[in-house]
Parts: sequence; C-alpha cells; structure tokens
Amino acid sequence: MKKTLVLKVDSQEPEIEKIRIAADFIKKGGLVAFPTETVYGLGADALNPKAVLALFEAKKRPLDNPPIVHVGDLKVVCRLAKKVPTKAEKLMKTFWPGPLTLIFKRSEIVPDVTVCGLDTIAVRMPKHNVALALIRESNCPIAAPSANLAGKPSPTTAKHVLDDLDERIDAVLDAGPTRIGVESTVLDMTVDPPQILRPGGTPYEVLKKILGRVELHPVAVAEKALTVEKARSPGVKHKHYAPDADVIVVEGELSAVMNKVKGLTEFYMQKGNKVGVLATDETVGYYRAGVVKSLGSRSDLAVIARNLFRLLREFDLESVDIIIAEGVPTEGLGLAVMNRLRKASGYKIVKASSR
Ligand code: TXA
Ligand code: MG
Repeated sequence: MKKTLVLKVDSQEPEIEKIRIAADFIKKGGLVAFPTETVYGLGADALNPKAVLALFEAKKRPLDNPPIVHVGDLKVVCRLAKKVPTKAEKLMKTFWPGPLTLIFKRSEIVPDVTVCGLDTIAVRMPKHNVALALIRESNCPIAAPSANLAGKPSPTTAKHVLDDLDERIDAVLDAGPTRIGVESTVLDMTVDPPQILRPGGTPYEVLKKILGRVELHPVAVAEKALTVEKARSPGVKHKHYAPDADVIVVEGELSAVMNKVKGLTEFYMQKGNKVGVLATDETVGYYRAGVVKSLGSRSDLAVIARNLFRLLREFDLESVDIIIAEGVPTEGLGLAVMNRLRKASGYKIVKASSR
C-alpha cells in the first residue's frame, strides 16, 4: 500500500512542475496514471523490466497480455521496432499523434516482460499534451495499459482510476475526462494486408481509405468467443470491460430491439433482479422500468463512445444485477462500441427480430 498522489493539471498547457513530479516517479521505476485522448493509461518506463512487472501487479493483469508502448517522437519507433514497413510510415504521418496503435516486429532493446515474451511490440503516440509532456520529461518510452483493474471497464476520468487503483500506484495526473472514451485501434503491421485486432478511436473506414486493403480480424468484430489459437491478439482470451453486473446485448432492427429490451427487463425484474437498461436518446423514453441510462443520440456515435465506460461503471455504483444494452450500428466508432459491449457481455448477444 502506498499513498497515491493526485496531481491536477491543465489538459492543454500542463504545469511543468507537476509533470516533473510525475516523471520523477517514472524515472525511479514507479507507476503514474495519465490521460490520453482515448482513456487513462497506467504508465511505467517500458525499458525497465522491474517497473513493467510492477505495472502488471498493480493492475492484477495476466502476464501474457502485453501493454502498449507510448512514444513522443517518431525516431523512438525505429529503436523499438526491428523494421518499420512503408505502409506504417504513411499511417504514422497521417494519424499520429492519435488513437492508432501499430504492431511491429520488436528490437533487442525491449525487455521480454514488456512484450510478454512475444517477438512483436505495440506502439502508439497519444494525442494529449499531458501524455506527451510526461513522455518527454521521463525521457523514455512509456508502457501503458488502460489504468483499470484487469477485466474492468477502462477509466475515462481520474476518479475511475482511483476507484480501481488508489494506494496501488504512485500518482495520477488528473486533466479531466478523456475526449474519445474508447481505446485506440490496434493494427497489426506484421501481416499484409494489415489486420485490425481491436477496433478503436481510428475507424476501419478511415484506415481503409488510406491503406486500400485492411482486414478486420474476427476478434475485432467480437461476435463470439474464439479459441486461443485463432485469437492472435494475446489479450482476447481474458475477461474484458466487464462491470460487476451481468450484461446482455440486444442487436437487430431498432423497433425489435426496443421490444426485446423491454421484455427482458420485465423478465429479470420479475425474477427479483435490479435491472439497468443501456438505452439511447431516441429510445430512453420508451422504457418505464429499471435504471435507465442513455448513451447519447444514435446520430452521434462519437458521443456514445465517449459515454460508454462511464455508464457501465455507474450501473455498478447503483448495484445493478444485470444490464440490458441496446446494440448500435457497427459503422465508424460504433464498431469499437459494439466490440466492448459484446465482450463485456461475455458474448451473451440476443438477436431481436420483428417477425
Ligand atoms: O487507447 C489505448 O490504446 C489505451 C491508452 C492508455 O493508450 N491503452 C490500452 O492499452 O488500451 P491496453 O494494454 O489496455 O490494451 C492493449 C491492447 C491489448 O488488447 C493487447 O492484447 C494488445 O493491445 N497488444 C499489445 N501488444 C500486442 C502485440 N505485440 N500483438 C498483438 N496485440 C498486442
Ligand atoms: Mg485495457
């Protein structure tokens, strides 16, 4: 147990003295949570094996699920990766800093623990002045998984970080809520065409425009559990994004979804459960029972993505037993939202149809 220092910082122009306090922890092998444009990350010096091991312990993260390494400078990528394909250079020029993580063959300077013994490494440059200032002042690449306890929804505020990790980490830089709200897109550049292993803040359609060909791995769609051999992305066999409550996702045409959500809510309430309904602005008035929350309007999937993890955590604070969630369209950021919801449900997906 240690005291966790909370450092409030300006998100645009972070106060340098506070960044230096945080960077000193990183340099000494400590753990600092910090905001990125996607979610809060829990950072450690990526080249210090002891620090990275402590990172896994603090999060209770299984030792076979490697974190993303965050850089502030393109030159550092060449030190971490064995080879940077031309297509990757183009992506970095177009999307960095930003919510896109690239998988490369890794170089010898990367400690085994940082990549969980794999011969590849995940790298990204976050688009957030606090994150970039911390990387610069720490003077090292920073390994940072999302700053939640393993299996829980990712944190989009410093309070979420403290709810999970207070007294387990040295400090948190608090710059308010994160802008995107779901994690970065993970794109495997060691195969051709490149493959999306996790949909996230940079949509599939946008990558397709730049790359021409890009594949969506089945784990990214997450319609059902895959065997470990098929999974490719090491983290997928573990429980993910899950609130304490059980989750059921209802997908299909909207009016059929609404009827099904209503029916399931009544069914579980009759059995004595406290039921949460994850609705949208267009449908929220239709549900009269349960704890009903809206993700935002169906016409703005960016807002829905921003609210998702916060609402899942709110249902837990209200001790809901089961969450019935409406599916949203899988276009743009909607694919990232549906990937998180399907995984949070443990693939308890109900297809609603009007017939
Ligand atoms: O937006 C984000 O990406 C956030 C912020 C903090 O940057 N970070 C984040 O990290 O979501 P984490 O550790 O929670 O998720 C990393 C993902 C996992 O799904 C992991 O399995 C995958 O990246 N990953 C890491 N290294 C990999 C590798 N060498 N090959 C394939 N997948 C890898
Ligand atoms: Mg995570």
